[in-house]
Amino acid sequence: MKDIFDIIKTRRSIRKYKKEVPPEDMIKRCIEAALYAPSAKNSQPWYFIIVKDKEKIKQLSKAQPYTEFLEGAPYVVVALADPAKSNHWLEDMGCALMLLLLEAHSLGLGACWGAIYHPDSQERENYVRRIIDIPKNLRVIACMGIGYPDETPPPKKIKDFNEAVIKVY
Ligand SMILES: Cc1cc2nc3c(=O)[nH]c(=O)nc-3n(C[C@H](O)[C@H](O)[C@H](O)COP(=O)(O)O)c2cc1C
Repeated sequence: MKDIFDIIKTRRSIRKYKKEVPPEDMIKRCIEAALYAPSAKNSQPWYFIIVKDKEKIKQLSKAQPYTEFLEGAPYVVVALADPAKSNHWLEDMGCALMLLLLEAHSLGLGACWGAIYHPDSQERENYVRRIIDIPKNLRVIACMGIGYPDETPPPKKIKDFNEAVIKVY
């Protein structure tokens, strides 16, 4: 079993997926991991929709130029937030989706975030709402592509530790 630091260090965004469809339970487990995320005042403002339908996935992939990779994904998890539940719903969602990405990697799946939420425009969210029936009170944060990886990106180049840590008191 891999140590969590190994999982963190070896995760990369995966945008190419094998045709073989992973069992749905694996996708559910990634979402379950997300449910354990920290959130402001433990508000847990998240909701998820699992999309397997190929036609719907194809339509979702056209939400914006950088979500095209979704077309090849056997699953898209649409991540939603209820702003009425938390003053920090965006940060909460970042925490939850990070855990989803890590759990996917730890299970041998590949996943990547497809950005839908945009601070200045709800155009992409409205586009997703035309494809998927989403309760009005929920914001659409992301479309997460998940499947068996069909690419192996090189190890990640990270910011130098001494550049990131700007002071120690
Ligand atoms: C908030 C957020 C939005 C992102 N949106 C997209 C996206 O729309 N399309 C995409 O291909 N990747 C998207 N990504 C993935 C980033 O491009 C990726 O995390 C970054 O290049 C670092 O690579 P790594 O994930 O392999 O470490 C997004 C990531 C985050 C955290």
